[in-house]
Amino acid sequence: MYPGSFDPITNGHLDIIRRGCTLFDHITIGVLNNEQKSPLFTVAERIEMIQAVVAPLAETTRTTIEVDSFEGLLVDFAKRKRANCIVRGLRAVSDYEYELQMAQMNRHMQPDIETVFLMSADTYSFVSSRLVKEICFLGRSVQPFVPPIVEARLQAKFGRQPQS
Ligand code: PNS
Repeated sequence: MYPGSFDPITNGHLDIIRRGCTLFDHITIGVLNNEQKSPLFTVAERIEMIQAVVAPLAETTRTTIEVDSFEGLLVDFAKRKRANCIVRGLRAVSDYEYELQMAQMNRHMQPDIETVFLMSADTYSFVSSRLVKEICFLGRSVQPFVPPIVEARLQAKFGRQPQS
């Protein structure tokens, strides 16, 4: 289970999914339905972008990748999906405290599901969905940080013509 907001998916997320494919037979990408937090993209839009960018991976790996959304507790969703492992990406030490707290809380609620942390490539250690949205909104290209389809969707959201 690789859960997150994915608002939107970035190259950093994709890097973690690629790494996950070397370790797991099946990965469910769990998109948090957090409409009350006013995400930029709807769950349907986020799922569509994820499906588009993971599709080429299916040709290079034997891992099957499923994309689904969830509400409520992650561990309940993971249990329903029969996941035995939650994958989270770690970019920097600053991620660690929050991630450790979540992992321990999740373990407390569901001891049979293990959390595994994968380190993103250092190229992506500073990439986040929040910064990508801000940079695109303020008019700079986010091409190095997100797949082309995501950049196009961001530009459309912010009412801009695609940049060359
Ligand atoms: O991409 P994000 O926003 O860092 O992902 C956070 C996510 C979705 C993994 C986390 O917010 C989550 O698991 N939310 C579901 C609600 C839940 O289970 N809360 C208790 C966590 S200990």
